Parts: sequence; structure tokens; C-alpha cells
Amino acid sequence: MRTQYDNIGQSYERLKTGMPLARGPERATVEALTSTVPGKSVLDLACGTGWYSRLIARAGAASVLGVDISEEMVAAAERSEGDEPLGIQYKVSEAQTLGVVGRFDFVTAVWLLCYARDRLNLSAMAGTIYDNLAPGGVYAGVEMNPRFDWNGPKATKYGLTHRPDADFPGGKELAVTAHVDPPISFSAYFWEEEPIITALLGAGFRSVEFVPAELPVDRDDTFWGDFRLNPTIVGIRAVK
Ligand SMILES: C[S@@+](CC[C@H](N)C(=O)[O-])C[C@H]1O[C@@H](n2cnc3c(N)ncnc32)[C@H](O)[C@@H]1O
Repeated sequence: MRTQYDNIGQSYERLKTGMPLARGPERATVEALTSTVPGKSVLDLACGTGWYSRLIARAGAASVLGVDISEEMVAAAERSEGDEPLGIQYKVSEAQTLGVVGRFDFVTAVWLLCYARDRLNLSAMAGTIYDNLAPGGVYAGVEMNPRFDWNGPKATKYGLTHRPDADFPGGKELAVTAHVDPPISFSAYFWEEEPIITALLGAGFRSVEFVPAELPVDRDDTFWGDFRLNPTIVGIRAVK
């Protein structure tokens, strides 16, 4: 099945290096959420080109398995693994239908739930995350902030424009553009807190928390002022 990310592939990493949102709060939030990964087994869902799979492996994870629905994204991740072997394994699969591929200490997913097109898909993703965790295991995610104020400051100056296309109960359809050269556009979904919490608790998690996004240590308070007022992203932490 051809997916929207198959047309993006390797060029996706321009977002990670070129977009302040990714270089700053996204990365800092992932690092904070995964500070205890050294020595742990990790399943990285929606791993894309393996940007965070590699960060987690370099941080000292015992093992990392990256899974993504896009063959092109996984091919790019495998090329990076070939160039710099970190012992990461990759697999092409939709998260919802992955099944159980292990009992991991951590399941990370940076931008997965935003591709659930309805509550059924959200629940299926939450089920896969839960089923692949060992008891006491942790889901660490980064997603769009469900409390983002659509009338407040936008994220465009940080490199990303979100255009709400249609509302549905519990969320919105979004057209997203990353302002890198040339721009990269994709569609995604904005989910409110309630559907996310319902899906995760419904899967069996005993706790779910939204963790405020971190700012980079060398933060420029003037530049990040709008982000502080209206953070675009949030961390999610759930314990099995
Ligand atoms: C914004 S990218 C994030 C990639 C990576 N986590 C990162 O932060 O660099 C989103 C990724 O989610 C993948 N994806 C979208 N829907 C998916 C699904 N249902 N199951 C697994 N991966 C999915 C896309 O192919 C894409 O690689």
C-alpha cells in the first residue's frame, strides 16, 4: 500500500534539521520522556527514517525495533543503519495491525496518534502499544497538544503550519505544511484529550498523563515566547 510518507522518504529528515520546532521542543521532549531508556528494550512505532530510533539507541537502549507503515521511510532508516550500524532493527507495518512483536520496556511513538483517522484506529494503536509492553512498561509519545488554542499564536515561526480542514467529534482534520526548502506537506488529525485518554485507558493502561513540552536548554525566551503561550506539542506518558 502506497502511503503519503512514501513520497517524502529520506527528504523527511530536512524537517528534523531545518525546523526549530523539531530541533528544539520536540527533541527536548523526547529526551526528557526517554531519559531512563539506557539498558531498556524499545519499540519505536511510526519510526519514520529512524531519527529518534537512532537517538534512543545512542542514548544506550539495550535494543531498538523501529516500525513504520511506509516502505520508503523504513528503507531510508535501513540505509542510515547501514551507514552507521547501531544494532537497530526495522520492520514495515501499520501500527494498528502489528500484533505482538515482543514485550518491551518502552514503546515510543513520536507522531503516531495523529494518523488515527477515527476512534477505532486510535484504540487499535493504543492496543498495539499496550500489548507490546511488559508489565510496568512505559509508553512515551509526542503528539500535537490537545489544548492547543486555535485562536492563539500559531507554530508557523517554528516551521510548521496547521490548517484545520474539518471538525469531527473529538478532533479535526489537518493539512500540515513544514516550511523547509522545498516545503513538505501532509495530512494528519488533531485529537482532543478525551479520545486519547479513553483509547489508552481502554487498552488497559493504569495511568495516562500529558507532559508539558520541554524547551531546549539554550532556549531563547524571546523566540520561544509564542510557544510558551500556546505550545503546539505535548508529551504523553502512560504506564502499563
Ligand atoms: C511525522 S513522521 C514521524 C517519524 C518519526 N517518529 C520522527 O519523529 O522522526 C510520521 C510517521 O508515521 C508513519 N505512520 C503514519 N501512519 C502510521 C500507522 N498507521 N502505522 C505506522 N506508522 C504510521 C508515517 O509513515 C511517518 O513515517
